[in-house]
Amino acid sequence: MRPKPTIIDCDPGTDDAIALWLALGSPELDVKLVTVAGGNVGLAATTANARAVVGLTGRAVPVVAGAERSLLADFRAETAVHGADGLGGVRLPEGPPLAPGIAADAIRTVLRAADPDSVTVIGLGPVTNLALALATEPALLGRIAEIVLMSGAWSEGNITPAAEFNAWNDPEALAMLLGLDRPLAMATLDLTAQAFVTPELVSRLAQRQGGACWQAALGILRALPASKRFGHRGYPLHDPCAVAWAIDPGLFGARPAHAVVDLGAGPSRGRTVVDRWGRLGLAANHMLLEALDAPAFFDLLAERIAALP
Ligand code: RIB
Ligand code: CA
Repeated sequence: MRPKPTIIDCDPGTDDAIALWLALGSPELDVKLVTVAGGNVGLAATTANARAVVGLTGRAVPVVAGAERSLLADFRAETAVHGADGLGGVRLPEGPPLAPGIAADAIRTVLRAADPDSVTVIGLGPVTNLALALATEPALLGRIAEIVLMSGAWSEGNITPAAEFNAWNDPEALAMLLGLDRPLAMATLDLTAQAFVTPELVSRLAQRQGGACWQAALGILRALPASKRFGHRGYPLHDPCAVAWAIDPGLFGARPAHAVVDLGAGPSRGRTVVDRWGRLGLAANHMLLEALDAPAFFDLLAERIAALP
């Protein structure tokens, strides 16, 4: 199959970094553009990290800065998970300079040059950049083959009891994307919980030889803190799950579903109410990723990143 022209919007972020390496190490994806939002650790750090992560691969993929706040508010950072630097303390050589311009414009430029139904758009952070890009030029929606998001949860959240971090940080942007009537796949916390990383798994992965990207990815996997949601036994690896769907959907079980985003000001703001059983009788607005072949996922991750420089 011809490689999929791909845009990745992210907020690196430890798991974003691993997701970017997975994407850049996979021939199924032709990454045309990486755009960055503030999300996890603020725009200055997330852009520096995106530059360094892409730069380590030696690939000349443009990195363009975007939103440092959501559509309606400031982002809330998550340095407790990602570290103050956003990469768990793993030091990378400085990457090439940012490409000029802003993310929303760069996304539209790639879409304008693309064939109909050809571009895969992957969102790994608060989707402010994607919403700004796609809301201002609706004619470009026809260039998009699929939107793939790591976002939301049908059970408990991870930034509030009700909401997942990306959805909570810009729920209006997520609601806009769910309303675009374009193919959209969503990897929620319930899916990413199956991409569960333990010290034993990292030790097994580390037996594979690889270059600087793989060594840095192992350093990040060792640095991420165990999650209290999982009894400190390990942690879920979120963002690479969205990239893996774009590479090999056969790793997943999925079903069409309707999701509504809570846009209220109360404690459930940012909650994704996912109607897995069609109880609301509403047409599906996304493909819900529900099951993951975790051993095959981690084999893919290791194989592709270890093959990078
Ligand atoms: O809730 C997990 C998501 O929030 C991931 O994308 C992680 O990088 C953070 O952005
Ligand atoms: Ca992220």
